[in-house]
Amino acid sequence: MCGILGYVGERQDNLATFFLEGLERLEYRGYDSAGFAVLDRNGHAGQPPNGLPLFKEVGPVGQLATKVGRSQLPGSIGIGHTRWATHGGVTVANAHPHLDCTGSIVVVHNGIIENYQSLKQQLLDRGHRFTSDTDTEVVAHLVEEELASANDTPDYAPSDFAAAVHRAFRQLHGLNAIVVGSTEAASLALFRLGSPLAVGLNGVAALVSSDLPALSAYTDRVLLLDDGEGALLTLDQPPVRLDARSDTLKQQHFSTRRNGHLGSARQSDPPWTHSACTTPPPVADKGAYPHFMLKEIHEQAEVLARIAAYPAAPISTAAAMIERAFGTYFTACGTASYAALEATYLFSHLARKHVNFAVGSEFYFLEDFLVPESLLVAASQSGETMDTIEAVRAAKRHDSQVMALVNVPGSSLTRLADYVLDLYAGPEKAVVSTKAYTAKLGVFLLLAYTVAGEQAPGRAVLQQASVALSDLFSNGLDKQLRRLAGELAAHEHLFTIGRDVNYPTALEAALKIKETSYIHAEGFAGGELKHGVIALIEDGTPCIVFAAQDRSRAAVLSNAIEMRSRGATIIGIGPEREDVFDEYVHVPDVGYASPIVSVVPAQLLAYHLAIERGLNPDKPRNLAKSVTVK
Ligand code: G6P
Repeated sequence: MCGILGYVGERQDNLATFFLEGLERLEYRGYDSAGFAVLDRNGHAGQPPNGLPLFKEVGPVGQLATKVGRSQLPGSIGIGHTRWATHGGVTVANAHPHLDCTGSIVVVHNGIIENYQSLKQQLLDRGHRFTSDTDTEVVAHLVEEELASANDTPDYAPSDFAAAVHRAFRQLHGLNAIVVGSTEAASLALFRLGSPLAVGLNGVAALVSSDLPALSAYTDRVLLLDDGEGALLTLDQPPVRLDARSDTLKQQHFSTRRNGHLGSARQSDPPWTHSACTTPPPVADKGAYPHFMLKEIHEQAEVLARIAAYPAAPISTAAAMIERAFGTYFTACGTASYAALEATYLFSHLARKHVNFAVGSEFYFLEDFLVPESLLVAASQSGETMDTIEAVRAAKRHDSQVMALVNVPGSSLTRLADYVLDLYAGPEKAVVSTKAYTAKLGVFLLLAYTVAGEQAPGRAVLQQASVALSDLFSNGLDKQLRRLAGELAAHEHLFTIGRDVNYPTALEAALKIKETSYIHAEGFAGGELKHGVIALIEDGTPCIVFAAQDRSRAAVLSNAIEMRSRGATIIGIGPEREDVFDEYVHVPDVGYASPIVSVVPAQLLAYHLAIERGLNPDKPRNLAKSVTVK
């Protein structure tokens, strides 16, 4: 679950600059370590005496930059990687790129090679030397063997190299994307199955990346690869399309349109032309904010206003799909899963419609229910979360319809789904999701209202929520939460409760606090407290209570009283102060949009708790924004 970047093209005075900048854009895929290699065959000033220039460092890309220092690395071909560790600890040795025994094959990888242990054992038995604990390294040695078995001479033609990489790729089990470089062939050969890869072209170079947003800084001409496809990128040659879906590798040139743009069925329109983002998507910066998380929290009023004005046609089409379906299933992971859970309440209340919910990683164990008339609605900020994509694949196995709510145009999920609703939240950079969560709540709310035949009131309530949020921000919400964070920062445990539409809010609030501050925070349905959880309440334990102005209010306040009687400190979030609250955070009543405004104080609390505890809220330990492995 990593970020991949490659370059083949015009010689640059310093390829290190390209990789350090590009890898920073990919850091949201993992920041356990980063590395890159320059593969030019003819040595240059920066080249170490016994190998190609290869730099790897643990931690974020900034640390790699320090290691690279002032090294000038001129070059025309290279690959780089940001890692989220799966196999093997967070060490320099396990950082990508990985090399074969000869040091001329260089590999970066995203995914999990499920049969790597047996492949590794066979390679060890045949005398290969491994220098890491990763599954990735087997690819380098497999390609080394495949090349050696097919060639007597050391000068490999790029097409032989591509064929060797293809044979190696075919031996891997699991969902993987690999980019393999060869100093001898002066080429990069890449293949994907499950994990995304795209090639970008800008007249100077062919670039490859796991992520469209990383490419968008360099080009708007993108060749998307389907599962089982690949590409061969060679110096001074047009890119070659590879098809790895059979034992024999098929190689063909991408066709060229008269206007000079590379094109074929494979070429995507620049994906951002379909989104609310301007063209190309802004490379998000923090502006005046110290962190992306704080900036993105504050952007939510604007995002809601955009969703309140969502084009009518796509919402109506999506609503009709839900009405037509024989069984609708909502699925998502992490924060997105709480938005999907929320949708089940909204559809029940507003549309009187039964919809099912399962988290993405569990969905495919329930696939036996699916029939062609079923509809799976998958929600995802990135559109790359593997567990969500696997759920979609399960639906496709049963010929069911798939709708996706996605924030990243052109992502894998948008390409798999039969119908896509853009979340219009704009680029979300902080690893913990905030504005994409409220955007999903907004779109689900509008859908539920539309199924009920009441799209206009749905838009009105969203507009109201947008205004309410702007008012909260201008009336010192941030300051109150900063003070509260100072008071709570030393606690080890914290609980959140909510009922009805604010049960998912309680879950999301606890997740935010856990992710950013590492405080043990747990969210519960208020009614579940007495069934065990209450045993955890001690004197002074902070408990956040979401008490909206709805039919669950009396019940959740009773739960708050039960906790307070056992010594808990109650932080109430809602439209009205109550005696049971030791601390009160006001949010106005905005009807069924109440979960949207109620979650914002919890996001701010999570942010300030991280700051109080000396942590970087944008990059929590062990997490990645886009989890592209199962
Ligand atoms: C990861 C992130 C979470 C995110 C989840 C789903 O676990 O750390 O913040 O909610 O993935 O991501 P998605 O892109 O599918 O919404």
